[in-house]
Amino acid sequence: MTSYPTIPFEQYREYPIEEMRQRLNDFYQNIGRRRTVRDFSDRPVPRDIIETALKVANTAPSGANLQPWHFAVVSGPETKKKIREAAEVEEREFYEHRASEEWLSALAPLGTDESKPFLEKAPYLIAVFLKKFGVLPDGRKVKHYYPTESTGIAAGMLITALHEAGLAMLTHTPSPMKFLNEILGRPKSERPFLLLVVGYPADDARVPDIQRKPLEEFASFIET
Ligand SMILES: Cc1cc2nc3c(=O)[nH]c(=O)nc-3n(C[C@H](O)[C@H](O)[C@H](O)COP(=O)(O)O)c2cc1C
Repeated sequence: MTSYPTIPFEQYREYPIEEMRQRLNDFYQNIGRRRTVRDFSDRPVPRDIIETALKVANTAPSGANLQPWHFAVVSGPETKKKIREAAEVEEREFYEHRASEEWLSALAPLGTDESKPFLEKAPYLIAVFLKKFGVLPDGRKVKHYYPTESTGIAAGMLITALHEAGLAMLTHTPSPMKFLNEILGRPKSERPFLLLVVGYPADDARVPDIQRKPLEEFASFIET
């Protein structure tokens, strides 16, 4: 017997190896179609779809199960406009002054610039916040362990879930993003992690022609 409460791991599913391959290949085929989109349609997306995707994200593993994230979901035009205006101020500064030549040349193949119309056009903006520490009802602080890793995993699962639903996204990181705390009323204990723009792609959306590295370049297998 353990000294902490446990339950039988009944939700686990094992698949025969062939089925394992098939499932994973199907998943790879589908996730391989995910691309970052920068031209959105304003077609609405039902809120329950977003809620379920957030629940998927919240199943992510996290350091000591402290779930150190918060998702602020924006669909109202007034707030989107405020976010666009603030992001464009930061982005103008970034492209004109802050970005190094090296950074600008890394961004060149993507064709990005300081104009962010998608922040008003797409039906949803999901601001992902990383909670640097938790706060108990009596005001005491709770230390969070590995909040960056945990929030990164949750954000990845959110992107995967939204893609699975057939939606398109842009992972946006206007730098710095502190304006999101103010506009969205989030406390200082939360750091804006990224701003996910979510919706349907515009009918004529195009994406940069980029390549993925082959397996040998990004993985190594040590079998001794
Ligand atoms: C942490 C992170 C930050 C990003 N920030 C931006 C951004 O601010 N603006 C943008 O247009 N794309 C941004 N991207 C999207 C990347 O440019 C994109 O993922 C990359 O070019 C690969 O393209 P793909 O997502 O279509 O595969 C970001 C992606 C990540 C993971």
